[in-house]
Amino acid sequence: MSFDSNMDRLFVLELVRVTEAAAVAAAKLVGMGDEKAADAAAVDAMRRALNEMDIQGRVVIGEGERDEAPMLFIGEEVGTGKGPRVDIALDPLEGTTIAAKAMQNSLAVIALAEEGHLLNAPDVYMDKIAVGPGLPEGVIDLDKTPEENIRDVAEAKGCAVSDLLVCILDRPRHAELIKAVREAGARIKLIGDGDVAGVIATTNPETSVDIYMGSGGAPEGVLAAAALRCIGGQIQGRLLFRNDDERARARKWGIEDLNRKYSTMDMASGDVIFAATGVTDGTMLRGVHSSPDGQKYTTDSVVMRSKSGTVRWIKGEHLRKKAE
Ligand code: FBP
Repeated sequence: MSFDSNMDRLFVLELVRVTEAAAVAAAKLVGMGDEKAADAAAVDAMRRALNEMDIQGRVVIGEGERDEAPMLFIGEEVGTGKGPRVDIALDPLEGTTIAAKAMQNSLAVIALAEEGHLLNAPDVYMDKIAVGPGLPEGVIDLDKTPEENIRDVAEAKGCAVSDLLVCILDRPRHAELIKAVREAGARIKLIGDGDVAGVIATTNPETSVDIYMGSGGAPEGVLAAAALRCIGGQIQGRLLFRNDDERARARKWGIEDLNRKYSTMDMASGDVIFAATGVTDGTMLRGVHSSPDGQKYTTDSVVMRSKSGTVRWIKGEHLRKKAE
């Protein structure tokens, strides 16, 4: 069965149910200081909700390889097995540390695409650069220096370099990058974790973020690319390998050119649907909250389709009794 336009419409709401379930489950453990427990709760809830969907889904970006992840591992078949064949990229709890510390921007995220249209990225680092919509194709390029990218984005936006805000993960490995961005004269927003939200922030003028730069997880790069396919913008990524084991892992997933530069389309092509629900409050979404009477959970989600470019913001109210 193919992934036709009617089905992909139906999946829009279904996918939100999946991210809502993961977010509500994780939210119960927000601030408890236990990353693993919060992640496990989100994984379990996401898997149960996914298995109710009429799809023949294959996890291409998941919790890890089969031997290291008991659930939602790469290659796991999900869904009822009745619908179209689809590829799934997911992160039931993007920002486990953020959730454990009750900080900003942890999300439950998922992307669904036609079979064979999401990059099977190994769990290694990826060098990334991204900008939001409305800029000329190719304005950013991983092969340019940070100074050149910043200068070209400022020129394309018609603003001064000092007006630009660059989002970067706060990591010692980014010391050189941070120095280069500061020397170029741009401003920097350092984030502790959560680069899917960091990349998506470039698409939302309210965040003031103009460019995302730096290395983070490759799976998160594919999820961010899926979001940008729907909402607009550009991302480039290049896998970074720390040792031979990581190189072997990439080859195992069919990656031959280890130095390849991936475009948005290389990471997520065809018809893509992306959904996210906030676990903790963030720049894009509010987190899960209890209603004043304690009877309900409220959720805040976004779901987008690349085919139509529609972006839907969905508020949910869930009876606490049923969600537990
Ligand atoms: P987790 O949800 O797996 O904890 O990932 C959080 C995150 O910040 C990602 O958003 C990012 O891509 C990656 O970790 C960066 O890795 P590192 O913490 O090793 O720099």
